[in-house]
Amino acid sequence: MRTQAPTNVLIAFYSRNGATEALANAVAEGASAAGAEVRLRRARELVAPEIIARVPGWSATAARMNDAYEAPTEADAVWADAIIFGTPTRFGAPASELRAYIDSLGGIWFQGKLNGKAGGAFGATSTRHGGNESTLLSLYNTFAHLGLIIVPTGYADGAMFKAGTPYGATAVVPPNAAPTEDDLAVARFQGRRVTEVAAALKAARPA
Ligand SMILES: Cc1cc2nc3c(=O)[nH]c(=O)nc-3n(C[C@H](O)[C@H](O)[C@H](O)COP(=O)(O)O)c2cc1C
Repeated sequence: MRTQAPTNVLIAFYSRNGATEALANAVAEGASAAGAEVRLRRARELVAPEIIARVPGWSATAARMNDAYEAPTEADAVWADAIIFGTPTRFGAPASELRAYIDSLGGIWFQGKLNGKAGGAFGATSTRHGGNESTLLSLYNTFAHLGLIIVPTGYADGAMFKAGTPYGATAVVPPNAAPTEDDLAVARFQGRRVTEVAAALKAARPA
């Protein structure tokens, strides 16, 4: 009998104030609990330093997170059996910092190295109906191009009836607040679900 290597899960996120970071950690917990080996990575700043310096707290929060998480690389994406992207909403769409990482994967996409991996997305806004769903769905457009197998959260767990969206974990986080326990429960479920689907896809692939 073939023993299967652990399922490799890359969680690549951007976060400025910590809401998406909290969701990312909960996704990682869920994936680890399902047996995954996890790489948690934070995309780096793109905005001009003089603008970052004008926003209270941005530099310090970015420095803290950049100490805690490596930047995502092409090699991380190749290594992964599943890729889960996390992003705050920016005017109804994903953050350019995360998009820049995705755009850096063009070379391995062209070589077919992303094809058939499981994929999911999660995110945060500051307002209700402020773009969480449009943000996740726009990432799923890109997943189709990358050849990722989209794994939505659906209503496949009791947690989905309290928070999140069927597209992926989300949180509505006003300034100086944090995702709720219900939001985090959905994120943990997403980590577990994507891991389970990725493991099944891996097991079905010829050795
Ligand atoms: C440039 C910019 C655009 C934003 N656009 C939206 C938006 O369209 N809808 C919304 O609800 N929040 C918007 N926000 C707020 C963030 O999405 C929200 O604060 C999110 O929770 C931040 O996540 P983070 O704590 O991981 O950085 C925007 C913030 C910035 C800086």
